[in-house]
Amino acid sequence: MSRLLLVSNRLPVTVKLDGEKVAVTPSTGGLATGLKGPHQQSGGLWIGWPGEVSRFTESQRRDVDAQLANLRCAPVYLTAQEVNRYYEGFSNRVLWPLFHYLLDRIPLHSRDWETYRQVNEKFADAVVQRYEKGDVIWVHDYQLLLVPGMIRQKLPEARIGFFLHIPFPSSEIFRILPWRQELLEGVMGADLVGFHTLTYARHFGTSLLRILGVQIAVDRVKYRGRDIRVGAFPMGIDAKAFASCGELDEVKEQVARIRQQAAGAKILLGVDRLDYTKGIPRRLLAVERVLERNPSLRGKLRLIQVAVPSRTRVDQYEQFRQQVDELVGRINGAFGTIDSTPIHYLYQSFNQKELCAMYRAADVLLVTALRDGMNLVAKEFVATRTDDDGVLVLSEFAGAADELGEAVLVNPYDVDTIARAIVQALEMPEEERKVRMHALRQRVNDFDVHHWAKTFIETLEQTKIAPKPRALRISSEDELSEVVSVIAEAPKLALLLDYDGTLVSFVGLPELAAPGEALRSLLTRLSGLPNTQVHLVSGRKREQLDRWLGDLPLGLHAEHGLWSKDGRGQDWRLVREVPRDWKEKVRPILNQFATLVPGSLVEEKTASLAWHYRMAEAEYSAHQANELYLHLTEVFANLPVEVMSGDKVVEVRPHGISKALSAQRVHEMAPDALLVALGDDRTDEDMFAALPQGSIAIHVGPKPSMARFRVADVASVHRILEEIIRRRG
Ligand code: UDP
Ligand code: G6P
Repeated sequence: MSRLLLVSNRLPVTVKLDGEKVAVTPSTGGLATGLKGPHQQSGGLWIGWPGEVSRFTESQRRDVDAQLANLRCAPVYLTAQEVNRYYEGFSNRVLWPLFHYLLDRIPLHSRDWETYRQVNEKFADAVVQRYEKGDVIWVHDYQLLLVPGMIRQKLPEARIGFFLHIPFPSSEIFRILPWRQELLEGVMGADLVGFHTLTYARHFGTSLLRILGVQIAVDRVKYRGRDIRVGAFPMGIDAKAFASCGELDEVKEQVARIRQQAAGAKILLGVDRLDYTKGIPRRLLAVERVLERNPSLRGKLRLIQVAVPSRTRVDQYEQFRQQVDELVGRINGAFGTIDSTPIHYLYQSFNQKELCAMYRAADVLLVTALRDGMNLVAKEFVATRTDDDGVLVLSEFAGAADELGEAVLVNPYDVDTIARAIVQALEMPEEERKVRMHALRQRVNDFDVHHWAKTFIETLEQTKIAPKPRALRISSEDELSEVVSVIAEAPKLALLLDYDGTLVSFVGLPELAAPGEALRSLLTRLSGLPNTQVHLVSGRKREQLDRWLGDLPLGLHAEHGLWSKDGRGQDWRLVREVPRDWKEKVRPILNQFATLVPGSLVEEKTASLAWHYRMAEAEYSAHQANELYLHLTEVFANLPVEVMSGDKVVEVRPHGISKALSAQRVHEMAPDALLVALGDDRTDEDMFAALPQGSIAIHVGPKPSMARFRVADVASVHRILEEIIRRRG
C-alpha cells in the first residue's frame, strides 16, 4: 500500500484550550472515520487547517504541533485574514451557495479570490514539502479546488486524487463564476476526480467541454497530455458503528426518555447544520400545514429539530438563523399548548450517542435539503434502525436519494408535498415500514464508508502514472543564436513560414487574423535581404492570402500546398490535379449538419470541404462532429479522400495533398539554397518531413514535433526573424 497524503480544509481533530492546557482530540466526522484506517495503515499524513489558534501562546502552539504530529497530522496555519477571505469569504460566501444553486445568497461582488488562490498555494506547498516518491495524494472538497493543479505543476509525476463532497452544479450555473476556467484547470491537475453521484460527474463533464473545450469519453478525459478519470463514488458511513451504538443500554435508556418526554406524541426528527441549503424553513412550514389540516394531530406531533451552529461569522448564516428562529417562534406560538410545543428546537451540537438515541426514538426523519452533496444524516438514521422501523422522508435533491430509493422521496421546494409525505409516513403500516427500512439498511451496510475509501484509493492506484513530461525543451539562447548565425550566413536562403500560430496568434474568427503593419513590414524587409526568398505556406484559401499579402514580394502556397504562386505578379498554379467529383456527394451531408447545428458553417476550398463549428454551442456541436466524422469515414471509405477531425472542424480532402508539396516546390525553385521552415501544427510536420537534408526545421509551441529546434511562441518567431534581418542585412 502506498503512503497516503490526505489533504482537506479541516484536520480531523478538534483543537481546544482547556484552561491553560491544549487539548487536541480526534473528531468522529464521516471523512475522519472513513479515512482513519487507510491513514494509519499506510503510515500516511493528514494535511489541513487545525482551526483558529491565533489566541494561543507560542508554547501552546508548540504543544499543538507535537500533539498533531503524534496523530500523523500536519497543520496548515491560517491568519485571521486568510480565514476571513479564503474560508468564510470565497469558499462559503461564493462557492458554497453557487454549487448548491442558491444564487441569491452570493454577494454582488467578491474580492476574496486572490486569498483563496494564495491559501490553496499554501496547502499545495505543504503537500509538496512532505511528498516522497510513490506517495498517493488525495485532496478533498470545494475549499481546495486549485490544489491538485498546483501540486501537479511542482510534482508532474505524482498520483493525485480529488473528491468533491458537495454537488457539482449544471454547467449553466458553474459558468457564472468569473474564475470558472482556473477552477476547472485546478481540479484537472488530478489523475482521478470523484463525485458522490453520476449526475455531478456528468455536470462536471459538460463544464469541461464548454469551458476548457475537452470532451470526456465515458469516464476518461485527455487533458494536457495526461489521462484523467472521472467517476461517481457515493460516500457511505460507518454503518456498523451506528448500528452497535443504537444497541447500547445507555442509548436505549435515552430513547425511552425522549419518548416519555414526547408523552405519546409522534416524533418527527430533523438533524442538520444550521445551513440554508438544508431546507429547514419549508420543512417547518410543512409541519405547520400538517397541524393546520389535521386538528386531530395537534398536541400529538413533535418535531425535534437539531440545528448545529455553523459558519456563524458568515452574514448569510446569521440572517438565516434569525429567519428560522422567527418561524419556530411563530409556529410554536400558534400551535403550542400549556403542556406541549410542536417544535422542539435545539441550536447546539450532539455527540454520536445522543444522535443515535434521537435516530432510534424518531418515527420519521425529515431530510428536506434543497441541495446536498450526499447527506450522511439520512444514512446514519437508516444504519441505526436495526429494529427495521422508522420512516425516512428524503429530498430528491440530496445525493443520497440516488441510492435510497425506498425512502419517501419529496421535492423539498414543495411544501404541500412535504406535508403529504409527513402524513403518509405517520400513517404507513408497520409491514411497509419494515420492508422499506430493511432494504435501505442492507444498502447502507453494504456500501459503507470503508467501501468508499477503498474503492477510491484502489481506482486511484490503478490510474496510469502521469507520463514523464516530454522534453519540450525550448532551444536555449545560445543554440538559437548559433542557428541564426548559420541562417544569416547562408549564401542562399529560402524561408518557409506557416501563417496561423506561427506568424500570428490564433483568434476566435479566422477572418480577423489579418497581418498588422508590423508583420507586413517584417516580411517585406525579410524578402528584401540579399539572396533570400520568403514563402508563406498556409492551409488558407488563395483568395485570402492574395487579399492580405498579394502585394508583397513573397511566394504564396495555399490550401496546404495545392496551389502555389512563386512570387508577386505571378499566376497561381495548381500543383497537382486532384479528383473533385467526390465533393458532390459530401457537400449535401455537410450542409445538412450546418442546418442542424446553429452557428456552424461549411467552407469550400478548391479541393476540400470543411465543416466548422467553433461558434456553435459546444456540447451539441461536439456530439454532432463525432457523428459526422463516423458517418463520413464509414460511408465514404471507398472515395479517394481522407476525413480529418481538427480543432473545431471536420475536413474532407483528397489523399496526397500536404505542405510537403510546397517544400518540394521551393526546393525545385532554389536547389542550392538553405531551406528553413517554421510551423506550429500537425500539417507543418509534413513540410518538415519533406525538407532536403541539411535544412533547418523550427517548431513553435508545446506540441510534439520532429523539428530539431523549438521556440515558445509567435513573439519568439518574430524575434528570430528580426535577428536574421539584422545579421544578414
Ligand atoms: N452531526 C453531529 N452532531 C450533531 C449533528 C450532526 O456530529 O449534532 C454529524 C452527523 O452525524 C453527520 C454530519 O454531522 O455525520 C453531517 O453530515 P451531512 O452529510 O448530513 O451534512 P453536512 O453537515 O456535511 O452538510
Ligand atoms: C460540508 C462540507 C465539508 C465541511 C462541512 C462542515 O460537509 O462538504 O467540507 O467541512 O460541511 O463545514 P465547516 O465549514 O464547518 O467545515
